[in-house]
Amino acid sequence: MISRIARGLFQLNSVPCLRAMTGTTPVVRQTAVYGAVCRPFSSSLARWHGHIRKPNPGEELHATFILKDGTQKTFDVCDGDTLLDVAQAHNLDMEGACGGSCACSTCHVIVDPDYYDALPEPDDDENDMLDLAYGLTETSRLGCQIKMSKDIDGIRVALPAMTRNVNASDFS
Ligand code: FES
Repeated sequence: MISRIARGLFQLNSVPCLRAMTGTTPVVRQTAVYGAVCRPFSSSLARWHGHIRKPNPGEELHATFILKDGTQKTFDVCDGDTLLDVAQAHNLDMEGACGGSCACSTCHVIVDPDYYDALPEPDDDENDMLDLAYGLTETSRLGCQIKMSKDIDGIRVALPAMTRNVNASDFS
């Protein structure tokens, strides 16, 4: 019974969805069928992801990410931006599965030791998540908990080879 209802909802909802996603004109409507909502894929610009804004001239801070293939990318960032926001705004390979609520460890970064001591101490929640992170190091932190400030201007962090989604592993 439930699967028949679900199939019906999918069929009712999928036609406008497919039309919307494959049509030639931008889609501005949403289709709701019995509470199910269908939306097209996001077409927002990458620079709008992660809720960061462009720094004012002269107020930029800098953060460098060392990617899994060894390449380095440096970005101008604002005071208060988290490294998770910066990474996601620039489509780096940082998942951030919990959306920055310190509950997954998929934003694990390895901080350059030159900057590690300038960071505020991790709180208990961050330490708990770090204990479960894959490939933990002495200078590991969570990217969602590192907020840019003048004290860490120029920070360099490496993305680990792998991350672990603590929540997903608990239930799979
Ligand atoms: Fe989940 Fe940072 S995004 S712990």
